[in-house]
Amino acid sequence: MHASDNPANTSLINKRILLGVSGSIAAYKAAELVRRLKEGGADVRVVLSQGGAEFVTPLTFQALSGNPVHTELLDVEAEAAMGHIELARWADAIVVAPASANFISRLAQGRADDLLSAICLATGSPVAIAPAMNQQMWANAATQKNLKTLNDRGVAQFGPAEGDQACGETGLGRMLEADDLAQNTAGLFETGSLAGLTVMVTAGPTQEAIDPVRYLSNRSSGKMGYAIARAAAEAGAKTLLVSGPTSLTTPARVQRIDIESAQQMLDAVLGQVGDCNIFISAAAVADYRVAEPAAQKIKKQQEKLTLQLVRNPDVLSEVAAIKNGPFTVGFAAETENLEAHARKKLQNKKLDMIAANLVGEGKAFDQEDNELLVLTNTEQHRLPKTSKEKLARQLISIVADSIHSVRPD
Ligand code: PMT
Repeated sequence: MHASDNPANTSLINKRILLGVSGSIAAYKAAELVRRLKEGGADVRVVLSQGGAEFVTPLTFQALSGNPVHTELLDVEAEAAMGHIELARWADAIVVAPASANFISRLAQGRADDLLSAICLATGSPVAIAPAMNQQMWANAATQKNLKTLNDRGVAQFGPAEGDQACGETGLGRMLEADDLAQNTAGLFETGSLAGLTVMVTAGPTQEAIDPVRYLSNRSSGKMGYAIARAAAEAGAKTLLVSGPTSLTTPARVQRIDIESAQQMLDAVLGQVGDCNIFISAAAVADYRVAEPAAQKIKKQQEKLTLQLVRNPDVLSEVAAIKNGPFTVGFAAETENLEAHARKKLQNKKLDMIAANLVGEGKAFDQEDNELLVLTNTEQHRLPKTSKEKLARQLISIVADSIHSVRPD
């Protein structure tokens, strides 16, 4: 069965997986793993340790991943393209498969004298190892102590399996097969932190009709809101996505409700928000609409045309005003004075939390990356520039911590 055939592996879609390959005969299975991860929708970059390169060539991984393979810690050209810190930041997760006894020992010591161990030390993303070694080496007290150290540090462990080994012995130490490793990698993103809760996310622009063929809108692509919906679903929440017009695919396990105007968004939100525990308003809702849209296409006649605009309802404020309503998270899109303006919105709209971003001049709107300042009345989190997918997971994790402290089970 392929990773893409299994619903659990929808969690690999759009994920950036850094696959570390260390020196073990099982390195050949890593080539198959690259294919499985890619079939699941992940972008894969491979880092080969010196030992790994003895077993499989960089060319194999380059061809399969479609990305350059990284091998050297101190290589001027490699550092110029994507250095170890950039690779560490790029990755949504790092999976070292195979992880040899030597690599496990180096990781446990916190070494940073080769590219793969330096990246593992420099990342804030989840790290997993798929051990592969002779059964005696596996059973050795030194290896078991190193594994315990890594486990205590939160490094995930995939396998090993038991069976015949390349050395002719039988026992524990075989690396898991590619399908199982892909499944386990997908599982890294399934946090369960919002299990049992219902989340509603708004995303994208609204379109306010001028006449039957024209409208007022904005540059929102929906990427931020869709990433949040995906992260909420991966955190185990039942997730509703109220979306303005976008060209994006609905994330797996997310129920999408399409709307065009702010009024339609309000109706769709109020219709179902009563059943929700969390409301996250990432949509760029038009503040104004045309007072009286023309019934027929407006003809080109006068030199000047004046459109009268009237205020739209504020969807977010209406949700925040619901008595015993959901935990409410707004966004603030600002071109200046980010924190001050965001704090004002947090207070004026009576929100539980606000995620503020600078917009304009190529920032936030329709970009792949973003950065957020997340505020509550008592807390502040700066989420530095990274992919919207990663930011969404960070935001969901902050929301989960908040909701569990505000409303303990
Ligand atoms: O969609 P992308 O291309 O990925 O871009 C992401 C984004 C920049 C659109 C997103 O990160 C963002 O900032 N969304 C909020 C945009 C916005 O309308 O901000 P605002 O500061 O004008 O509004 C404050 C809050 O009130 C927002 O949560 C907004 O959803 C909400 N609002 C605003 C007006 C209105 N009539 N109803 C609302 O609910």
